[in-house]
Amino acid sequence: MALPGRSYPVFIGQGALQELPKLVREMGVSGAAIVTDTTVGKAWGGAVETGLTGVGVNCRTLAVEPGEGSKSLAELERVLAFLEELRIDRRGIVLALGGGTVGDLAGFAAAVWLRGVRVVQVPTTLLAMVDSSVGGKTGVNTKLTKNSVGAFWQPAAVVAELATLGTLPESEYVAAFAEIVKYAVAMDAGLFEILDARWDGLGARSADDLEAVVARCVELKAKVVAMDERDQGARAILNYGHTFAHALEAASGYRLAHGHAVSYGLLLAARLGVAVGLCGEEVDVEQTRLLARYGLPPGPLEVPLEAALAALPRDKKATGGRIGWVLPRAIGKAQVGVQVPEAVVEREVRLRFG
Ligand SMILES: NC(=O)c1ccc[n+]([C@@H]2O[C@H](COP(=O)([O-])OP(=O)(O)OC[C@H]3O[C@@H](n4cnc5c(N)ncnc54)[C@H](O)[C@@H]3O)[C@@H](O)[C@H]2O)c1
Repeated sequence: MALPGRSYPVFIGQGALQELPKLVREMGVSGAAIVTDTTVGKAWGGAVETGLTGVGVNCRTLAVEPGEGSKSLAELERVLAFLEELRIDRRGIVLALGGGTVGDLAGFAAAVWLRGVRVVQVPTTLLAMVDSSVGGKTGVNTKLTKNSVGAFWQPAAVVAELATLGTLPESEYVAAFAEIVKYAVAMDAGLFEILDARWDGLGARSADDLEAVVARCVELKAKVVAMDERDQGARAILNYGHTFAHALEAASGYRLAHGHAVSYGLLLAARLGVAVGLCGEEVDVEQTRLLARYGLPPGPLEVPLEAALAALPRDKKATGGRIGWVLPRAIGKAQVGVQVPEAVVEREVRLRFG
């Protein structure tokens, strides 16, 4: 991953975790605080701790409860207390072992502890591998708003061990394909072809197929983040499918899984693209077909449409209440900042999901 003046390594593959102890030792660390959740900790925490201890790195582990509830200010305080107790100094590191929840929480703790210590992201969900572990967005939720307290804090390294996906529940695995299809439709027709051709291998979690796809998504995200680290313009393309997804998540009281919400968001965005004349029907048809190959969306939308529509203007990417939609032009190309009349949005939402 290359950023102006800075870059960091991203290791992806079966066996990537074996690189971790050497990598951490070479960082010259004074100690490591491993932050994980209880599920991931049970499955993978031992291997990480043993690896680090084996190369003489002082480390201990804090496991939070699994799930979005841990991305809170209260849990942040608990992580900071843990860093203090471990006497993590400026040469110490935080190691985030888990999905996006742990990555965001631990990454933000690293960003603010002593005004910033290094964080190594060790993503264990497919979503975290293709999305949240790279790009440097970290943060927690307040009681009312998701990701409202946070920082841009790039990791010192990312180690994506594909073997960890072996213990990931099927629904979590499948949900990540919404983000992967997002990259394909918005940015990369070649990735779309790979997803189409290798769906059986990917469905069976084949390491070879996964390596190709994860690496490609990381490259796409890296390219966009390098252009626009602080989300002022180009990075908006990563928001394809997310405008409606965020509204659905909020309207469901965050009970709808993010990946599932994104899959409905992608369907709507393609409909809007057709409605405003930006793309042809075939984009909608092809995207719907590819999503269905991966079991997305998981079923009919159960969030009340009124509530979802009402939640739309609160989207963070909205400026002055007017939403700049990210809509497809073709498979592999999207346009950001498209204005769509509210009446058209409402009509398409009702036609697609009513
Ligand atoms: N920072 C970013 O750029 C960014 C981007 C996208 C999403 N996010 C954030 O990521 C979070 C969602 O992350 P997620 O989808 O990875 O979910 P998650 O971290 O909540 O993990 C989902 C579940 O899977 C379990 N799990 C994780 N890895 C496992 C493994 N290898 N084996 C068995 N169980 C495992 C966890 O314990 C948890 O129960 C959200 O808070 C979202 O806001 C951040």
